[in-house]
Amino acid sequence: MPAIVPEEIDQYALDHTTNPGEPFNELARYVRENVPAAGMMSGPTVGYLLNSLVFATGAKRVLEVGTFVGYSALMMAAALPGDGEVITCDVDLEFTGIAQRFWAKSPHGSKITLKLGPALDTMADLEPGFDLVFIDADKGNYPAYYERALELISPRGLIAVDNVLWSGSVLNPSDEDAEAIAMLNDRVQADERVNNVLLTVRDGVMLIRKR
Ligand SMILES: C[S@@+](CC[C@H](N)C(=O)[O-])C[C@H]1O[C@@H](n2cnc3c(N)ncnc32)[C@H](O)[C@@H]1O
Repeated sequence: MPAIVPEEIDQYALDHTTNPGEPFNELARYVRENVPAAGMMSGPTVGYLLNSLVFATGAKRVLEVGTFVGYSALMMAAALPGDGEVITCDVDLEFTGIAQRFWAKSPHGSKITLKLGPALDTMADLEPGFDLVFIDADKGNYPAYYERALELISPRGLIAVDNVLWSGSVLNPSDEDAEAIAMLNDRVQADERVNNVLLTVRDGVMLIRKR
């Protein structure tokens, strides 16, 4: 899929974003060289956006829907206090095996709890009170993840949804994923319970909070 931000602008943004150091760079290198679905990894720009949200809000409880190789989970964990927690959900043993291997290389990895299984099942069993919910898994379930995330966030909590521009295809959705994302964007925009802003960072990140 084509990037919505021109390649040289994306590179410029990357060049003007803090280098996350290790183990992030080693993880990114390993995934680029060994995992065909490497494009699913968020990387430094979205990673530092999430890290900054955790830091600025003083978040202590974070929920992530879609772990993959654990890059974004570790980015968020790195900004949490020592007693903070990231709960992250995924269905894939291979991806999350890589995640666990790299989390173990970081002092912040112990703040992360992996829940294996369909995210909607995991979310159904969680108690509310999350300061940040990051939604970044199968796109067809985005509307359902959003509804449950609204129940799970604390009154001052934030929801961040990744890939809300889906390489621009939300303008003319022609497949199920694009339709689900476009449906979510329209639903959020019309939802009188929330305020929202769609950031054109990377593939689009929607930030949502309760009114
Ligand atoms: C885009 S990747 C997540 C990227 C990660 N958040 C990051 O930024 O590095 C999406 C992940 O969602 C997972 N996934 C797909 N369907 C799922 C489901 N029903 N429940 C939980 N995870 C799911 C996939 O296995 C994949 O690892």
